[in-house]
Amino acid sequence: MARRHFDRVRITRLMTPIPWHLLPDNSSLGANGQLVVGGCDTLELAAEFGTPVFVYDEEHLRNRCRQAVQAFGRNATYATKAFLCVAMARLVHEEGMRLDVATGGELAVVLAADVPPEDIVLHGNNKSRRELAEALEVGVGRIVVDSFEELDRIEDLVTSGANPPKVLLRLTPGVKAVTHEFIATGQDDSKFGFTVSSGLATQAVDRAAASGAVELVGVHCHIGSQVFRVDSFARALEVIGRFAAPLDLPELVIGGGLGVAYVEGEEAASISQWGTTLKQAANDVGISAAIGIEPGRSITAAAAVTLYEVGVIKHLDGIRTYLAVDGGMSDNPRPVLYGSGYETFLAREAAADRDMVAKVVGKHCESGDVLVNEGKLPSTVAVGDIIGTPVTGAYGHSMGSNYNKVLRPPVVFCRDGDARLVVRRETYGDLLASDLG
Ligand code: LLP
Repeated sequence: MARRHFDRVRITRLMTPIPWHLLPDNSSLGANGQLVVGGCDTLELAAEFGTPVFVYDEEHLRNRCRQAVQAFGRNATYATKAFLCVAMARLVHEEGMRLDVATGGELAVVLAADVPPEDIVLHGNNKSRRELAEALEVGVGRIVVDSFEELDRIEDLVTSGANPPKVLLRLTPGVKAVTHEFIATGQDDSKFGFTVSSGLATQAVDRAAASGAVELVGVHCHIGSQVFRVDSFARALEVIGRFAAPLDLPELVIGGGLGVAYVEGEEAASISQWGTTLKQAANDVGISAAIGIEPGRSITAAAAVTLYEVGVIKHLDGIRTYLAVDGGMSDNPRPVLYGSGYETFLAREAAADRDMVAKVVGKHCESGDVLVNEGKLPSTVAVGDIIGTPVTGAYGHSMGSNYNKVLRPPVVFCRDGDARLVVRRETYGDLLASDLG
């Protein structure tokens, strides 16, 4: 393999290696300095499964589920939108969490994993009649009701004499979480839920309490995602705790949203620390209802790295270096959507100083197809090398697309040196399966 060096762009300031804490828990260096995840050599994984590939540290996933269960027991519910496949649904349930689904599709995957319906929570701001009918038919454990129209649909579907489903009402507490505006959901100006300040929440409670078609068991809120400040959750808990106190309902769910560190310099609370803060806040407000959480990102994000092969290195004197890999916005749309930052590492020399900067781009037909704006890598990186981005375990695979008819990558779970292929790479046949010609 031809090694092309980048003396011209080598930056003089000593650049650090990849911050180790951004890699999955069970990461280590192999004999030649290559990255090993869950006991599996990433270079071998790339050779065996091809690239791009999502590599998950299975123990990391299990450990995060355990933290959630330790803090909240059966009231810890995994938000499947962060990352879902049958193996993931099974793993989460094995570890004692319930699972939340926000569409009929997520429900179908979770049911395919044989998760008992009573451990499934149905979400969504515009659940269709069909989705509600499917959920009622299998008997999901909870429905989180988001609108009056949804109550109409449920009342229409639950025939008299049938067991009314247990529901929570999604409330909008008027708490603006500090995060990207696309994923902030707690402020009054939101498409989600019944607004507390405008009186909609009170109307919804009155309506649900009087309806024979639902059994109102609690209130719910979700202020947003990738929220670093745990006091934002405490404030939301205070607002909905005060609102719910006179109702004396047994359940209060504070949603998901705990932020995770993606890049050097970011620090995030652990699920356990988040749990302690929430419990303290619940105590302070005197909430007697059982508190529930719905983490997604904090369970899965840091558990995975995505491996890519470098296909093109384009050096533009005085401008920048582009490094094109064999994936892009189809396996990780977050940089394009939210301007999210990621780090980069060279798989064969994972702890090496990263002394050059390149714009890591994908293979899609647009200039916006950027994975990492300023990706730091050792300057020995060459065409054919395997590079990786850590913290891609949440909202990467799940938000992936087939743009440019690119095949969605496989997912591999690694544990104690065993690599288990849990989602295979798509084929051209998959692309054509729904095309009737
Ligand atoms: N509960 C509800 C009702 C939610 O809407 C969400 C996420 C969660 C729980 C889980 O939140 P998490 O713990 O994962 O932050 N695509 C965006 C994130 C969208 C989050 C949507 N709702 C991203 O890539 O940042």
